[in-house]
Amino acid sequence: MIIIITYDITEKARLEDTHCTKGTHSFRNTIDTYNVMLLWRRRTAREETAALADIVLIYASMTGNTEEMADAIAAGIRSEGGEVVVKSVMDANASELERYDAVLLGAYTWGDGELPDEFLDFYEEMDDIRLTGRKAAVFGSCDSCYPEYGAAVDLLINKLRETGADVVLPGLKVELSPSTEEAETCRRFGSEFVKLAASGAARS
Ligand SMILES: Cc1cc2nc3c(=O)[nH]c(=O)nc-3n(C[C@H](O)[C@H](O)[C@H](O)COP(=O)(O)O)c2cc1C
Repeated sequence: MIIIITYDITEKARLEDTHCTKGTHSFRNTIDTYNVMLLWRRRTAREETAALADIVLIYASMTGNTEEMADAIAAGIRSEGGEVVVKSVMDANASELERYDAVLLGAYTWGDGELPDEFLDFYEEMDDIRLTGRKAAVFGSCDSCYPEYGAAVDLLINKLRETGADVVLPGLKVELSPSTEEAETCRRFGSEFVKLAASGAARS
């Protein structure tokens, strides 16, 4: 904390020297005080977000499209100062979800509007957990060639609701690999989610 503030003041003072060599000592002091306050406020806001929003993101991805979405969503969360644990569904079990304030699930759709095989055990285990009070959202890559577009996203939303979770955003479905614009939409999804999670997360 002290190191960051000192660095920032030095940088600002250097800038001040470059642009206004006749700047008075007291004026510089005022700027330094302002910078310290600004940093303190920014840091406090980030600590609050991180403290309140303990987020886990669990995804399945066979060819990498949903994983790209997961990475962009996690980047959006971190850009707000939030912290997120990102895991493949193959390394996770549903009971872990109860340890977190907020839950993100991501899955591509398989077969005829089905969950990926690697999500099936996890999905069944969700029958045995309660996520009352947790914020949640779901995303996944899809393909509009199939009649059941992104059905896995809808299945997971319904299952989360059955556990008592509060699904706070509409499911985010992206056609195949996210374009630059869609990756940005994913980042915004993450940043919006962490704000919603921070604004009222409470574990039961
Ligand atoms: C056999 C098969 C069945 C699929 N079924 C669907 C489907 O019912 N609905 C859909 O939206 N996409 C379907 N898809 C498309 C995948 O969801 C899509 O390719 C997705 O981008 C894969 O995501 P991933 O790269 O994260 O694995 C299917 C793909 C395959 C190969």
